[in-house]
Amino acid sequence: MPLSHNATLTRYLIEQRRRFPQASGDLNALLLDVSLACKAIARIVALGSLGEGGAQAPSTGTVNVQGEVQKPLDVLSNEIFLRMNEWNGYLAGMASEEMDEPFQIPSQYQRGKYLLVFDPLDGSSNIDVNVSVGSIFSILRAPQDVIDSGRDVTAADFLQPGASQIAAGYALYGPATMFVLTVGDGVAGFTLNPNLGEFLLTHENIRVPTDTQEFAINSSNSRFWEPPVKRYVDECLAGKTGARGKDFNMRWIASMVAEAHRILMRGGVFLYPRDTKDPNKPGRLRLLYEANPIGMLIEQAGGRASTGRQPMLGVQPSSLHQRIGLVFGSKTEVELIERYHHEPENREAPEPLFAERSLFRN
Ligand code: AHG
Ligand code: MN
Ligand code: MN
Repeated sequence: MPLSHNATLTRYLIEQRRRFPQASGDLNALLLDVSLACKAIARIVALGSLGEGGAQAPSTGTVNVQGEVQKPLDVLSNEIFLRMNEWNGYLAGMASEEMDEPFQIPSQYQRGKYLLVFDPLDGSSNIDVNVSVGSIFSILRAPQDVIDSGRDVTAADFLQPGASQIAAGYALYGPATMFVLTVGDGVAGFTLNPNLGEFLLTHENIRVPTDTQEFAINSSNSRFWEPPVKRYVDECLAGKTGARGKDFNMRWIASMVAEAHRILMRGGVFLYPRDTKDPNKPGRLRLLYEANPIGMLIEQAGGRASTGRQPMLGVQPSSLHQRIGLVFGSKTEVELIERYHHEPENREAPEPLFAERSLFRN
């Protein structure tokens, strides 16, 4: 393979940093450590059943705070994130899908001003079937008193709205390994050159097309959907002959990170809405390490991310592992879904003849 002329992730970060002459360089160095963790996870994932976290690995038998059985690779990926980032002096603490409580930086290391929040392996149910999975991360600034005192972090320190994120991104372990990043100035995509072991800039300034004819939702949940979601999907399914006047295509990978990538590449809309399946779980996906980082990326790329009712990045989190309804993607579709949610009392559209003129009512 000839030496590529694409910029490396390092070069991209240095060029981004020139926008902030005062910046210390900590954020860049942290992002490089995060990308190194992703490269390490990519290697293990690529070994499949041959790897130490593969199908032959003994089951952990453990259940995370979400009540989900942890796969060996969930645990291993979490360890990699922790070990690659605990020592560098840039972090005040970390939080992850796989840890009930925030992780404290061990006392032998310096503490820094950032918080790292991550889903070490998203879509891990796809591991056993060799379908794309990924890692999702979000970087927040630690509260000032944490930075000043160097005290242990608490869950409350992480409860910041998505709009406060300093950077967000994901790695996608697909046919190619990619690293997709925003530091608040658009979205850039990097592809791992395995010969160099470097992420190279291949997708500059990613933009989500405003319009789309592709949607993604797990329709096995349709009986639990709220009326606005039902209406939206029904109209998509009705295609050319329905209210939308055009045919739609549907996709469901069951790795949200891979769906987000498809939508960043060619548009589309993804819904994992709030539903009535389990009253204790208002939605399937988690706010801090799934919805917010993907939301920041999508919005930075000109798309829209929402709970269905309000912009995702404006939501004030109430707990570390909070679940939330998530809708994101091409702007016109997300806005339409939001409009359906805002229509009076969020009721099913009544049949005009029955409701308005009460013709057949008692
Ligand atoms: P995780 O593997 O981190 O627990 O997340 C899995 C998530 C998400 O990636 C995906 O969109 C969704 O779960 C799949 O849900 P279904 O099982 O309902 O398809
Ligand atoms: Mn996940
Ligand atoms: Mn996960």
